Amino acid sequence: MATHIREERREGVAVVVVDNPPVNALSREVLEELAAAVERAADDGSITAIVLTGAGRNFIAGADISMFPRLAAGEMPPVPFQDYMNRIEQSPKPVIAAIGGAALGGGLETAMACHYRIAAAGAQLGQPEVKLGLIPGAGGTQRLPRLIGMEKAMEMCAFGEAVAAQAAAELGLVDKVVAGDVVEAAVEFARSAPPVRRTRDLREKLCDAASAESLAEIFRQSARRRMPHQKAPEAAVEAVAAAARGSFEDGLAAEARLFEACLKGEQSRALIHVFFAERATAKIPGLKAAGAPKEIRRAAVAGAGTMGSGIAMCFANAGIDVWLSDASREALERGLAGIRKQYEAAVRKGKMSGEEAERRMERIRAAEGMEGVAEADVVVEAVFEDPEVKRVVFRLIDAAAPQGALLATNTSTLDIDGIAAATKRPESVLGLHFFSPAPVMRLVEVVRGRATSDEAMAAALELAKRLKKIPVAAGNCFGFIGNRMFLPYRTQAVAIAEQGGEPDRIDAALTSWGWAMGPLAVGDLIGHDVWLMIRQEALRRGAGHIPVSAFEDELPRLGRLGQKNGFGWYRYDENRRGHPDGELIRVLREYAAARGFEQREWTVEQIRERTLLALVNEGARILDEGMALRAADIDVVFVHGFGFPGWRGGPMHWAEAAGKAKLLDRLEALYDEEGPFWKPAAWWRS
Ligand code: 3HC
Repeated sequence: MATHIREERREGVAVVVVDNPPVNALSREVLEELAAAVERAADDGSITAIVLTGAGRNFIAGADISMFPRLAAGEMPPVPFQDYMNRIEQSPKPVIAAIGGAALGGGLETAMACHYRIAAAGAQLGQPEVKLGLIPGAGGTQRLPRLIGMEKAMEMCAFGEAVAAQAAAELGLVDKVVAGDVVEAAVEFARSAPPVRRTRDLREKLCDAASAESLAEIFRQSARRRMPHQKAPEAAVEAVAAAARGSFEDGLAAEARLFEACLKGEQSRALIHVFFAERATAKIPGLKAAGAPKEIRRAAVAGAGTMGSGIAMCFANAGIDVWLSDASREALERGLAGIRKQYEAAVRKGKMSGEEAERRMERIRAAEGMEGVAEADVVVEAVFEDPEVKRVVFRLIDAAAPQGALLATNTSTLDIDGIAAATKRPESVLGLHFFSPAPVMRLVEVVRGRATSDEAMAAALELAKRLKKIPVAAGNCFGFIGNRMFLPYRTQAVAIAEQGGEPDRIDAALTSWGWAMGPLAVGDLIGHDVWLMIRQEALRRGAGHIPVSAFEDELPRLGRLGQKNGFGWYRYDENRRGHPDGELIRVLREYAAARGFEQREWTVEQIRERTLLALVNEGARILDEGMALRAADIDVVFVHGFGFPGWRGGPMHWAEAAGKAKLLDRLEALYDEEGPFWKPAAWWRS
């Protein structure tokens, strides 16, 4: 008895609808029911053609991702994805895919197993499996090159970017794009008695094996640059190349072998963990907000520096009118000019039309003082990181903002309760910690103060969703989740440098492990004057267990502010490329000698062990204290805010995968040798 498939009859045409909310994902049951429904319709003498579609907004968002960890662990029998697709393609009567919304992964593979594809103008088609550490496993690597050629198929399978309907039509992936009802259009097309046309039989767009190998080599190299360390992109290239080497069946066999290898690998486990973790962060158990969260129609941002301007752009990009203000008229003008420059750059790069950029610019209005705050549903303060300045601004916001407005501070270090206390409504105050550059970075830490109400939290989570951000709830401790953990991690990197480590080797030990940037280079990027402030604030707020990275505190005094003035741990050239700096090493060694620091050799493994254990142990303390809701939230913070490799799943997932007991042994050894900083948190034994 089919439960995920609906069937309708429209005068000789069977319409088979995959109806598996929320996104029509294909579990084994759905696949079985779908193939059986197509076969049944094909056997029915009163039917001349079959239209296959999805219920709701999407066609099919792919295989049900939640089954992959179980498949990898052998906890369920293998799913013959390719066979289900072959059964659909085998139909003796024409099968037409009517594609609205997303046709991704197994969804696109289903569409390609159909004989024709008709798409709604807003449809998106793609093979995003690599983003989950996988490759297409239902024949996609063999059918896609037959429809759009080897080169484009390699690109889509190796990098996972989807294409919009019109572009798909130009590539030959869909036969027709329609503006109106896509199912209606497909039924009408079905009535024109199109001949059965199986993708597997097409060969014109395949090249010879030697050309396929040359193309594959180009894509392998570009995969190593664009998605370094990841195995799936190269496996996807390999599988597509196999289409040119032998028969369709040979290609399917190669795809199955490569898919299986990716499925069993650590990288797909980690990336799938991140996929679900990202979607779980906004679910806060026990949050009791009465009614729907307040709708945000207008916003105000106080402070037009880099962060404030970027946050104003986030609102404008989401279609929300926003007032931007600053105490200084000059700073406001500078902020607005900077925003305009960014939109113009987006137009130049073809990312946005000129009209769209103008529309967004018009949504951002310059405000005098607290003008605009009186009409705002949310006010975000992004002024100078000084508690007294922030309290003054919050008093003004409190006096001007309507009751029920959400009052947020973008502080990255300060105590939310201290700021909330400047208002008469601390229940409406919370932290919205955006990351820089705000329009690009998807992470937002939503920091709950002592008095923050459930309603305010719910409204902030809803707002983040509208802004297309990933909100992570954090407690009001120093540095919240991200900066708090980054502090001991970086402090260890500095300590290694003080004890004989070469800065570039320290950074390389971590970038070669997968981090986007080394910890010392990050210090240069953020600026050592800013780091000094962060560290001092952290110390004031209870980070006493983290040793002070003394030499780094010297850097601003030595005029080494980082990239902004060309000198930090590295010397920067005019292209902002860092080079090892002999003068820095000389000062560093002098500094260490004056304090009697032992100098030693450091292996890559030792560098990684100390920095990573310091990072995870601070995460563990955060969990012990309830400052993060779940380990997976911490993983999302690091993958989306700090350049931690997603294919390692985030720091807490990495520790679990590497073996908590083994890491705990190392941590205890360091604790015995070096004392309290390394004291293992309770989480390690949980
Ligand atoms: N399997 C299982 N659950 C899925 C899913 C999938 N393929 N795609 C989405 N979901 C779930 C999400 O977890 C979420 O669940 P929740 O409400 O309980 O948190 C819900 O569907 C809605 O998802 P989003 O919040 O992401 O909704 P959006 O509307 O923002 O986006 C989407 C919709 C564009 C379809 C997006 O969900 C997406 O990109 N999904 C993943 C697509 C994908 O990677 N497909 C490939 C799967 S692997 C495969 O097909 C292998 C094959 O080759 C054999």
